[in-house]
Amino acid sequence: MRDFLRLLRLLGPSWRWQATGILLGVLVIVSNVGLLALSGWFIAGMGLAGLGLLRIEYFLPAAAIRALAIARALGRYLERLVTHEATFHLLSDLRVWFYIRLEPLAPARLQRHRAGDLLSRIRADIDSLDNVYLRVLAPSVTALLCTILILGFLARFSTGAALADFAGLVLVGVALPLAAFRAGRSSGRQAVALRGQLRAEIADTVRGFEELQVFGAMERQIARHEAAYAQLTVLQQRETLVEAAAGGAALFLVQATMLAALVVAIPLALARTLPGPDIAMIALLVLASFDAVSGLPGAYRALGQTLAAARRIFEIVDTEPAVREPAQEAATPAGFDITFRHVSLRYDDADAWALQDVSFHIPAGGALGVMGQTGSGKTSLGNLLLRFWEFQEGEILVGGVPIDTLSGDTMRSYCAVIAQQTHLFNTSIRENLRIARPAATVAQMEQALTEAGILDEVRAMPQGLDTMVGEMGTRLSGGQARRVAIARAFLKDAPILILDEPTEGLDAFSEHIVINALGRLTRGRTTLLITHRPQALGNIAQVLELERGTVLSRSKT
Ligand SMILES: Nc1ncnc2c1ncn2[C@@H]1O[C@H](COP(=O)(O)OP(=O)(O)O)[C@@H](O)[C@H]1O
Ligand SMILES: [Mg+2]
Repeated sequence: MRDFLRLLRLLGPSWRWQATGILLGVLVIVSNVGLLALSGWFIAGMGLAGLGLLRIEYFLPAAAIRALAIARALGRYLERLVTHEATFHLLSDLRVWFYIRLEPLAPARLQRHRAGDLLSRIRADIDSLDNVYLRVLAPSVTALLCTILILGFLARFSTGAALADFAGLVLVGVALPLAAFRAGRSSGRQAVALRGQLRAEIADTVRGFEELQVFGAMERQIARHEAAYAQLTVLQQRETLVEAAAGGAALFLVQATMLAALVVAIPLALARTLPGPDIAMIALLVLASFDAVSGLPGAYRALGQTLAAARRIFEIVDTEPAVREPAQEAATPAGFDITFRHVSLRYDDADAWALQDVSFHIPAGGALGVMGQTGSGKTSLGNLLLRFWEFQEGEILVGGVPIDTLSGDTMRSYCAVIAQQTHLFNTSIRENLRIARPAATVAQMEQALTEAGILDEVRAMPQGLDTMVGEMGTRLSGGQARRVAIARAFLKDAPILILDEPTEGLDAFSEHIVINALGRLTRGRTTLLITHRPQALGNIAQVLELERGTVLSRSKT
């Protein structure tokens, strides 16, 4: 229930579209019911008038019938239009809402989830959340409003008929679907499980085809599948039976309700408290009123799925971010020197220290080389500067300002990163550069490419800046991809540079070109150069060597 209320609160921003959609739905049903009832009344009335038993004015009802027919058709069209609009608004609101909550969790909290699992939550679960409006809320509210309107109208002619109709609506709209759901639940569940099992087994059979033939085990395997199929057929028969019984019972109840209403209303006509044609109207009104509850069975089914999806979404949204943002930004740093004082980091309470008591100072515009074997904690230094993780002990200062008093976004805006696995998006070189500066002009991009030492190569490509780099940049050579990343860093023009094994995986020639480009990039920027290859250090004055998270040695030249 709490989850459901929370879900309803998410519907907020596009409520106008949603309410309009529901009102149009009510209009459609009321027109439809009105059309049937009025037609019944009109035909009966005309019949009696033809026999000279009654005088009726026929112009107005005939016009009303036409008006109702038009309202029904037009209303249905508009309802579809508006509810779709409402659903799309809702979907985009929900996606943005989820993304805003997801972002602070990356990467620290999201590494617990597999990428496929997250993707399915973003796509499938969010998509099924929009059902809460279209398939749960709209049919329920429509059913409620229509029932009130129809019964209110009916009660003016016969309270008894209205009560009978009410009982019928509750039975058909609420009791019967719930009973059918109960009856079909266990065989439905078994069927889903069995189908999955069968699929897996058959895939296994196909894969093991040769072995089964060689060992003469095919017959036995087929017999097993046939037995499972027979079991599935029994379950499906039971499901179909429940469905058919529910459908039949609903039909029966609808007719029985109409009969009950007639039984109540006919004596009124005989006693002349009700005009004859009203009997026809009441009968058809009761019959048509079941239109109002026709969406309810689907609503119950959708509700279960939607709540399950909502719980999966809430579980992520409620995760506490690893890095707490300061309530108020501290003053902006005056310069960009970096100080680590006795910093210790543990990725998880149960893990060993990834960094322990690490201290260093990089003067503004200066550089620090960090060496060490894999797993010694080099990348973790960058993770802390980028505010992806929180450190447990010590102090990190940028321009004298503790970085936990700056927001993550601010801190990241000061940094550019070139890493071995710097990501290029599967789009053009131009768009990949624009990530760093969306408003960059072609001249600025070409300037950055020049400094990265790759402009000539880009110009030589048939599509120039519009060359598509392929998935993960695979259409460029390793060295080219790295230099596009460097050009991106030039465009961002950030005062702090984190170079995390920037020449890793390159051949000697590409490494040489990339090191030259990096030499230009690091000029005047505070640089953390992480590498495990001494030759990549160039003429960096200060070098720190890490071993299992602690400082093994420091050298200054
Ligand atoms: N995201 C992470 N979650 C948990 N442990 C991590 C994570 N990243 C690194 N570690 C651990 O922290 C230690 C240091 O890793 P890292 O800084 O990546 O070393 P390096 O960059 O020197 O190879 C290693 O023991 C590693 O297993
Ligand atoms: Mg690393």
